[in-house]
Amino acid sequence: MKILVAYASVHGSTGEIAQFISNLFKAYAAEVECAKVEDIQDISSYDVIILGTAIHEAIWLTSMLQFLDRFKAEIATKITYMFITCIRVLETDGYEHVMKNYVHTPTVEALHIREVQPFAGKMKLDHINWNERWLLGLRYDGNELKQHFNGDYRDWYAISTWVNKIAQHLSLKPSFES
Ligand SMILES: Cc1cc2nc3c(=O)[nH]c(=O)nc-3n(C[C@H](O)[C@H](O)[C@H](O)COP(=O)(O)O)c2cc1C
Repeated sequence: MKILVAYASVHGSTGEIAQFISNLFKAYAAEVECAKVEDIQDISSYDVIILGTAIHEAIWLTSMLQFLDRFKAEIATKITYMFITCIRVLETDGYEHVMKNYVHTPTVEALHIREVQPFAGKMKLDHINWNERWLLGLRYDGNELKQHFNGDYRDWYAISTWVNKIAQHLSLKPSFES
């Protein structure tokens, strides 16, 4: 089975999650490629697509939206899962808020995406520029102070659990080769 993990990331944390997911699928003997959406020219050879995008200003990154627009007809014919990386999910009502506001249901339905899974991301305030801080201050749709979120919140165990669940749905069996 051939799997493509296609990600959109600005500061790299979603890319690292994508890489981690790829490595886990490799343990299930899948043939896996992991690439930035901007670098993908052809998806025809893949059976399964795992999409991953960071959330900025409460929406999916533009590069992911452009990728989906480019390949929408093909994606709709494949087995597709998606994860989104954000910080809003860390708040008290986070999961519900993110599923309601950060997931564009018409797109999910049109592309036959089986599941959208939110993961907590990483935000180091000294790694983002003033323009981004300004945007975050103006547009972040949470209740808790932005300054409160200044760290790496990625839960690698939760990410592994999600991948293992997909592997089970796909009836993937582990590889003992390496
Ligand atoms: C300019 C900017 C805007 C952001 N907007 C949101 C937002 O609206 N909601 C949210 O939950 N997280 C928001 N985040 C947090 C990111 O989703 C989080 O840091 C994510 O891990 C970034 O992924 P990346 O490192 O792959 O770019 C924002 C981050 C930045 C820098």
